[in-house]
Amino acid sequence: MSVLSRMVERRSVRKRAADIAHLHELIAPVSGVRLLDVGGGTGAATQRFATGCAEVVVLEPDRKKVAEGRRLRPSIRFEEGQAEEIPFPVGAFDRVTSVVAFHHMENQERALEEMRRVLSDSGRIVLFELPPSRAPGPLFRWIAGYRHAGHMAFHGPDELTAKLRAGGFTNVSSLAGDTGYFVVATR
Ligand SMILES: C[S@@+](CC[C@H](N)C(=O)[O-])C[C@H]1O[C@@H](n2cnc3c(N)ncnc32)[C@H](O)[C@@H]1O
Repeated sequence: MSVLSRMVERRSVRKRAADIAHLHELIAPVSGVRLLDVGGGTGAATQRFATGCAEVVVLEPDRKKVAEGRRLRPSIRFEEGQAEEIPFPVGAFDRVTSVVAFHHMENQERALEEMRRVLSDSGRIVLFELPPSRAPGPLFRWIAGYRHAGHMAFHGPDELTAKLRAGGFTNVSSLAGDTGYFVVATR
């Protein structure tokens, strides 16, 4: 990973400190919780909000981020892969998170199906997303184009909660955050 990418990542984690603390509360890492963070990058945010989980796995398609994550954060398990094809069995996790990554997923319905499949029976999904009004502008998109996948599709909280309900999730709700919003649901 380039120095620029690392600086962008550090700045982004600092900017989202309040939301990351809130994510930790929503994950509620009671004893034995197994967490999967989909599109977790190098795990810079994950290591903060996943404190207290028994097992933490980051799934990330960008090979360089996976290598950097493994180097910097040996307590987290990093796997290379996409949300649309999660390389874990049914019910492998008690919590699934995806933090400012859902808008990058090209097949969001399939990604939700996969995230639901790997959740245990009473497992919880916690998404953190940006509404369309906060979607990055053309300059940032151009910069981001070489940092990760160019595809981006943003939704507001109502649209995203509707997608989760359509995907079979229950107890779906959304909450406002500081720099974006959360959607929480049960498998
Ligand atoms: C803005 S970064 C967020 C990284 C991290 N979650 C964080 O909060 O710092 C979005 C991440 O989503 C990943 N991503 C893109 N397409 C994906 C897909 N189909 N499945 C899983 N992750 C994906 C990118 O490689 C990138 O690391």
